[in-house]
Amino acid sequence: MIKIRNLHKAFSATVRPLQGVDIDVTDKKTIVLIGKSGTGKSVLLKSIVGLIEPDRGSIIVDDTEVVGTNQETLQRIRHDVGYIFQGGALYDSLTVGQNLAFPLEKTRNLSKKEIKEKIEYYLEEVGLPEKINQMPSELSGGQRKRIGVARTIITEPKYLLYDEPTTGLDPLTTEDISHLILQLRDRLGITSIAVTHDPYCMSIIADTVAYIDEGVIKFQGTIAEAKEVDDPFLHSFFHASTV
Ligand SMILES: Nc1ncnc2c1ncn2[C@@H]1O[C@H](COP(=O)(O)OP(=O)(O)OP(=O)(O)O)[C@@H](O)[C@H]1O
Ligand SMILES: [Mg+2]
Repeated sequence: MIKIRNLHKAFSATVRPLQGVDIDVTDKKTIVLIGKSGTGKSVLLKSIVGLIEPDRGSIIVDDTEVVGTNQETLQRIRHDVGYIFQGGALYDSLTVGQNLAFPLEKTRNLSKKEIKEKIEYYLEEVGLPEKINQMPSELSGGQRKRIGVARTIITEPKYLLYDEPTTGLDPLTTEDISHLILQLRDRLGITSIAVTHDPYCMSIIADTVAYIDEGVIKFQGTIAEAKEVDDPFLHSFFHASTV
């Protein structure tokens, strides 16, 4: 599991996104992180994979402390924890297949045949086997997100961090991507933290919800429990989900 304790990060005297964040992410569950823009959701995700160094506190992934660790441990953490960037972050000059091969060639000693089989398997997993030879510029926004997911899960991480996986997508594609996230949890047993501003996506994927505000987790619990919390942001968030 991922256990975050008393995590602090400030960029200046006035920009202090994390001021004592505590979160527990249970194995094989998805926790959805919500909160106003600029409250530190992305900073929190980046801290877990060591892209941002917190000022103090603790992030334990399985039994390993991430905060203040060395490069070698960070490499291992990044192998176990996949980070899905907004927009997919594909290499535009490589085909879909080459994009998927990239993380495998970097981290493992696999034969060409094994790499090809994995690429086919994971493209199938995200429902886009026919796109293997396309260029990213030839894909729709939703397809790019799916390929981004495939490229992240191809190294078989135990954890996935999704930063706004459905932002900018139409409702049907949002539903597709949300079901894909659900499938990855159920079929591959992946444990996730997903940041979203989308109540519909949340309603599909969340086992629990965590709400970040003023540098701390103000609430962590089920959607039903979150609906009972007296807070203007949560009120508007859940109201949006019922229109
Ligand atoms: N590398 C950085 N250097 C300086 N300030 C940063 C850096 N990264 C984030 N910040 C600041 O930290 C605060 C939190 O940013 P963060 O990206 O985590 O917000 P967020 O909750 O993800 O917002 P959104 O919902 O809009 O994506 C913001 O004020 C942002 O400007
Ligand atoms: Mg963000």
